[in-house]
Amino acid sequence: MQVNGKDYHTIWVKETDTETIQIIDQRFLPFEFKIVDLKTPENIYTAIKEMWLRGAPLIGVAAAYGMYLGLLQIRSENEFENKIENLAAYLKSSRPTAVNLRFAIDLILQQIKNERSIDKKIKIAFDTANQLKEKEIENCRKIGEFGLPLIEEISKTKKGDVVNILTHCNAGWLACVDYGTATAPIYLAHQKGIKIHVWVDETRPRNQGARLTAFELEQEGILHTVIADNTGGLLMQKGLVDMVIVGSDRTSANGDVANKIGTYLKALAAYDNKIPFYVALPLSTIDWDINDGVKEIPIEQRDEDEVKYVEGWDGSKITKVRIMPENSPVANYGFDITPAKYVTALITEKGICRANKEDLGKLRSI
Ligand code: MRU
Repeated sequence: MQVNGKDYHTIWVKETDTETIQIIDQRFLPFEFKIVDLKTPENIYTAIKEMWLRGAPLIGVAAAYGMYLGLLQIRSENEFENKIENLAAYLKSSRPTAVNLRFAIDLILQQIKNERSIDKKIKIAFDTANQLKEKEIENCRKIGEFGLPLIEEISKTKKGDVVNILTHCNAGWLACVDYGTATAPIYLAHQKGIKIHVWVDETRPRNQGARLTAFELEQEGILHTVIADNTGGLLMQKGLVDMVIVGSDRTSANGDVANKIGTYLKALAAYDNKIPFYVALPLSTIDWDINDGVKEIPIEQRDEDEVKYVEGWDGSKITKVRIMPENSPVANYGFDITPAKYVTALITEKGICRANKEDLGKLRSI
């Protein structure tokens, strides 16, 4: 997608040095556009943990490149046996909720396991990471195609009047490699000339909605309005929301959806107001080993400073201010779980399905 009229992915191999991975450093958006070089698995670990990059599909692709960079440091087959499990465990520990991390690392382990030569393992890891990147782009493109008719249908019902879509956090291209998950149908609808308007939840504590989703939509010229997190319920009661589309960090095999904290409350409000609540996700975000997402999906708890302080632009630089008493305790849960019964449907790269074990299983086997 575009930044200042130029096409970007969120992550790529440096053109002049295949041992360097480059990313858009999301800590500075929307105020400053910075690209950062990542050269070691430790760099990748930090970039994921400290959220220089974030969003489930992007975390997965970054971790795959992290495995490649780690393999570059392993010089013999003996060393490989000792180090590879540690490398995988280390990268997996960078963030706990987004299952794409595990998916991508296990994919690399699987692909390299039958090859003895280190050089060949490195080449396989590099190719696999590149292929995963391309696959996630393609997944998002298809999610867009499957999701588009849902917007078209509402537009038709409203006789071409504006379709109001509410989204939470950033499940846009910045959370993926390109297009985004929740935003893919939105971008396609916009390209097709369907009138749309997006309500963007600010998404405290880190404000990924206000900072990243609003930035993306603005760059693409899509009508949008940023709202404080608690506004969605009122808008739904007033008939100002036609549909909700969010992403997911991990969805269990029975269709329970982990996504950024606050998603569950929007799903409840949508359910109460009979507004369709869609979750757009690639199948790499489904945890087939978990059958009860509410009980079993691990929820990340992050540093209390993310709640205690707010970060913004003071006119010349990014600055942080404390917004509460210094010594009040803080809890900072990163994600919540929306039970499957509140999800109207899942939009995946293989099609749309109900959020239940049977329908998801059918989709998996296509
Ligand atoms: O903590 P973050 O910013 O990584 O959380 C991201 C989200 O919750 C997204 O909605 C999710 O990863 C979907 S990604 C397309």
